[in-house]
Amino acid sequence: MRHFAAPGRVNLIGEHTDYSGGLVLPLAIDRGIRLRVEPSDRITLTSEQFDGGVDVAADGSGDAPEGWGRYVAALAQELGDLGRPPAGMAGSLTSDLPAGAGLSSSAALEMAVGTALAALADFPLEPLALAAAGQRAERRAVGVPVGIMDQAASVLGVAGHAILLDCASLAHRAVPLPPDLAVAVLHSGVSRELEGSGYGRRRAELEQGLAALGGRSPREVDPDEAVAAARAAGVGDVAVRRVRHVVTENRRVEATVAALEAGDRPALRRLLEEGHASLRDDYEVSVPELDLLVGLALEHGAVAARMTGGGFGGAIVALVDAEGAEQVVTATAAAYAARTGTDPLTLLTTAVDGAGEREEP
Ligand code: GLA
Repeated sequence: MRHFAAPGRVNLIGEHTDYSGGLVLPLAIDRGIRLRVEPSDRITLTSEQFDGGVDVAADGSGDAPEGWGRYVAALAQELGDLGRPPAGMAGSLTSDLPAGAGLSSSAALEMAVGTALAALADFPLEPLALAAAGQRAERRAVGVPVGIMDQAASVLGVAGHAILLDCASLAHRAVPLPPDLAVAVLHSGVSRELEGSGYGRRRAELEQGLAALGGRSPREVDPDEAVAAARAAGVGDVAVRRVRHVVTENRRVEATVAALEAGDRPALRRLLEEGHASLRDDYEVSVPELDLLVGLALEHGAVAARMTGGGFGGAIVALVDAEGAEQVVTATAAAYAARTGTDPLTLLTTAVDGAGEREEP
């Protein structure tokens, strides 16, 4: 038996920027998907956590499976298109990543399966080529036009670091997380699936607005200029606000990296607050539960907090003083439960290395 693992991710900042060649700052978290497999003619997988199993040809062809099997089949097909020989595998999958929390369980599944399929076929694959195959598999499997952030975070993760990724050039570097800060994730309990969410619509609205920039990247213009250009092109208020979010968010990513490197807590607080407000007001992907959780986290002592991931539900990320982190999380969760009747799932997480083959656990 061989073991493969791929982590989920939480994004510190840089939301809805990946699919327009922007900047993102995610970290791979200490929760993810593990596979225990041996070579086989087909791809057959079972799981205790996920409903149903997977049984497809080694190249992913055949009747499209349902549920999580769709991602497995689509990834095998994408790797086949890249020239992977059709070597199969049989085994089981376990997950300690809550689904629907916005922690990229589908990207972790794709990266675990892809790492295993490449290794079992002795097929060399660069981490970012695997990430891009996962991004395409997502579209093939469920028709959602995601960016590359989630898959890239799962393969590029570095212990103790966030990953600054330029989604245009795919250049990346690891940014050390200050050791005196802990990363907390609190799930609102509003389950989110990209499929069926407004994700594709947001992307289309943004692209309408970006067309008004006359071929310039949203990273080349300042916010006032972008808004003026979009208004002048008559694209409508919604598209103007989508563009404003992306232009300002890219700048916040750069400023957040600087603030992390300087250990500047007030700046981190302001940047994450501004990022949250922009996602709420300009990109309109927050929900009242996420707004409430962010407010409560700050009130109960978090250094900084904002919604994380695609939105429409899911989780918030909070930076908390490492000393006393548990208390901040517990107090925030209790206050949220008192207000909403929902006990939020909470994680105090650390940044880990990206997907790969592991020793026997
Ligand atoms: C989802 C997508 C990512 C990214 C985020 C928003 O997680 O999979 O590609 O667009 O939403 O930042």
